[in-house]
Amino acid sequence: MASTNNFMLGFCLMILFVNAASIDYGEALTKSLLYFEAQRSGKLPHNQRVQWRGDSALQDGKDDGIDLTGGYYDAGDNVKFGFPMAFTTTLLAWSAIEFESQLNSKTELKNTLNAIKWGTDYFIKAHKESHILYGEIGEGTSDHKCWERPEDMTTPRSVYKIDEQHPGADLAGETAAALTAAAVAFKKSDSSYSNHLLTHAKELFDFAIKFPGVYSNSIPEARIFYGSSGYEDELLWAAAWLYKATKEQTYLDYINEKSTSCGGTRLNLSWDDKYIGAQVLIAKDLLENKFAGNESTSLNEYKKYAEEFICNCIQKGNNNIKTTNGGLLWWGYWNNLQFVTTTTFVITAYADTLSATKNSLQCSSGNVEPSELISFVKFQVDYILGENPQKMSYMVGFGTHYPQKVHHRGASIVSIKKDKKTVGCQEGFDQWFKRNAPNPNDLVGAIVGGPDNSDQYNDSRDNFKQGEAATANSAALVGVLARLAS
Ligand SMILES: *[C@@H]1O[C@H](CO)[C@@H](O)[C@H](O)[C@H]1NC(C)=O
Ligand SMILES: *[C@@H]1O[C@H](CO)[C@@H](O)[C@H](O)[C@H]1NC(C)=O
Ligand SMILES: *[C@@H]1O[C@H](CO)[C@@H](O)[C@H](O)[C@H]1NC(C)=O
Repeated sequence: MASTNNFMLGFCLMILFVNAASIDYGEALTKSLLYFEAQRSGKLPHNQRVQWRGDSALQDGKDDGIDLTGGYYDAGDNVKFGFPMAFTTTLLAWSAIEFESQLNSKTELKNTLNAIKWGTDYFIKAHKESHILYGEIGEGTSDHKCWERPEDMTTPRSVYKIDEQHPGADLAGETAAALTAAAVAFKKSDSSYSNHLLTHAKELFDFAIKFPGVYSNSIPEARIFYGSSGYEDELLWAAAWLYKATKEQTYLDYINEKSTSCGGTRLNLSWDDKYIGAQVLIAKDLLENKFAGNESTSLNEYKKYAEEFICNCIQKGNNNIKTTNGGLLWWGYWNNLQFVTTTTFVITAYADTLSATKNSLQCSSGNVEPSELISFVKFQVDYILGENPQKMSYMVGFGTHYPQKVHHRGASIVSIKKDKKTVGCQEGFDQWFKRNAPNPNDLVGAIVGGPDNSDQYNDSRDNFKQGEAATANSAALVGVLARLAS
């Protein structure tokens, strides 16, 4: 018996060892930040590391006589959608705030701040006047009719904005959240930039409060791609960030007002729904006693709902989130991993605060220690990085088996550095999109939409629901990978 037990013990330890050794979170972290360089629009800097990309969209904004170059292409196309770009930037900044020391010890803090700044520099340009914010450059519909590298794009670069007559409190609110979170992230390394970001953020929040409205009604072009279901969540999220950054009473009042909804128990955290982000941010501050004497019932409601969501994710709540047979959290077929990455981020951040304040989580099926939350996160991240039934990494360029035909214009066409000859709109489809071969450029660090609910993945260039990556998929993972790598 004893020898069998020893054998089993040795065997289990070996499995643990193999698992631990096989996933290099530090490498995944480095790669996830490279992905943001591949998505850059505008004039690339001298320290650009992703060399298959070149300058692009250098005339953006010219239609309206302003410079709107820079920022990020959102996914596999060449449109700059402000709404998800702002959410991406907020998540990157939250990663930098929450896991600053871990990013620093992996020498990736500077790259993270650079990734944030590529977004915030653009938002500053887009925030032309206190009540004017550009929210989209390019047209989804005409862009999607072409398959072109960003470097030789021929599609219209129309500009779309919100203003007092065409409001968008969700777009202005999310951009305010992004600029505020970035202001916190930059406070130590560049206080004047941080102050500048905060000034823009406060103006945008004020604009959002005074001129409520759904941005995708004011910019109908964005509706079929990133239509917003409401602005209350972005206003709350922005107020929570502004309170964290400034400790000013006015933002606390906003969070506390009876008319402000806590959101209840949400289903997911995504570019459209920020309630969980705000709930977790407030819950963490409550645990850390940051409200000194201002702990109202409504603040405790945020905490309650944040915790209910987390319990549902770890399968210990009253309304658990579905999982695949392989154990991956499952929301839906189209870009499921975007929800998984944001969820792992909030659980990790909350677990660390629980741990630091010597608390545990009370779920309906019992008490959960912070270490159990981290194990859960690790399982989800390991699944994404290759510990899954397909043995496939859903991070491009990570491991030996990963998606080869990512739905991405730039990555699927020969690099402009290798062949300067323009690839036309239809030529791109005929010569590159339909080509039955791996992409010529690896979109290193990108997180694709991911597998279906039976853990299957079809690596096909036209399978955009599974095989397209988006900047919002990777942003939250930056912080989680830094935490797991340390
Ligand atoms: C995410 O949550 C929103 C509610 O805010 C819901 O409308 C949407 O269907 C959910 N999406 C998925 C994929 O679960
Ligand atoms: C409440 O918050 C305000 C503003 O953040 C702060 O000045 C005050 O000390 C806090 N405590 C009480 C009891 O009001
Ligand atoms: C994969 O996708 C391609 C293109 O969409 C399709 O032709 C093929 O049948 C799919 N394969 C499977 C196994 O679903």
